[in-house]
Amino acid sequence: MRIIGTGSAHPKRTVTNDDLAQLMDTSDAWIRERTGICSRQVITDEHLEDLATEAAQRALDDAQIEGKELDYIICSNVINEYVTPSMASIVEGKIGASCPCVDLNAACTGFIYAIDFAEALLQTDRANNILVMAAEEPTRMVNWNDRSTCVLFGDGAGAMVVTKGNGLRAIKVSSKSNLGVLHYKRKLEPTPFITKEEEHKPLYMAGQEVFKTAVTSSLHDLLAVLSEAGLTKDDITYYILHQANFRINDFIRHRFDVDASKFPVNMDRYGNSSSASVAMLLDELNRMGRLKKGDLLAFSAFGAGFTSGACIIEWNK
Ligand code: UT7
Repeated sequence: MRIIGTGSAHPKRTVTNDDLAQLMDTSDAWIRERTGICSRQVITDEHLEDLATEAAQRALDDAQIEGKELDYIICSNVINEYVTPSMASIVEGKIGASCPCVDLNAACTGFIYAIDFAEALLQTDRANNILVMAAEEPTRMVNWNDRSTCVLFGDGAGAMVVTKGNGLRAIKVSSKSNLGVLHYKRKLEPTPFITKEEEHKPLYMAGQEVFKTAVTSSLHDLLAVLSEAGLTKDDITYYILHQANFRINDFIRHRFDVDASKFPVNMDRYGNSSSASVAMLLDELNRMGRLKKGDLLAFSAFGAGFTSGACIIEWNK
């Protein structure tokens, strides 16, 4: 694949750590020191599909193509107001596309999984132009009385348009089933036949366990894709990592012994926006003019499942 356009969109409401300290027993100092997050953008009256559409349209504009030229839309999403149809199908109608559409849920790793699917479609001649996107509203999954999770998240959408090319140097995705560390359960519609007990359970996360698994898997995945691509850690221009916790990314950076400028950050302003975080950060770098032809970008993400994934893409826009 070759990336030819990127886009992103964020809800308008900024919620600072101090705002949260008005609502619960927390502080700006605790959140900043433990996570690196200073504020996040949170959905109020927006619908996630509108943010997803805005991100998609921006990616199309950046790629200088129209929705009708798309051959496939893949959207990574964990939750939104519609269980069905898919977010991809909703966006399809709003951007004037007419093509196969599918959502995938690999939690915070979803954007990397979507890249893997897109590459397979391009390699097998099933598509030429693919919209690969991620739209997430994790603030609707957390318990707002649980300060250990609700302060971590923010909402948003990111997108990119890819076409055929030799940009993807290596990719690795994995999953190791572990319901215990991170999950969210919802109750389905009752039926006359249900006899089992069901529960609604807002997002549960065993923070420290997830932290350790995240560090280990991200490091492991990045080393694997570097090796597969025949590259060294210093060949990478930017490490675009899932924006869950500054300490996770900084730990990896120290292990790699590379300059902080190679590990761009936006979690300070957006918090953890699940699978949208890598897509949003990529768009930010593109729009800031920080990406040059030939730059090597390493993506890495991890999340519920427990899923993880990494890839290396050459920027050739
Ligand atoms: O995208 C999905 C992947 N998710 C992640 O990568 C998250 C990974 N985990 C983490 O980022 C960190 O584990 C957290 C940020 C969630 C928590 O940081 P921690 O350093 O592991 O803190 P902790 O859970 O050990 O809690 C330390 C203390 C506790 O108090 P006591 O028991 O020591 O008295 C908590 O009750 O901090 C307390 N605490 C808070 N205090 C103020 C927990 N949340 C808060 C809060 N404000 N918001």
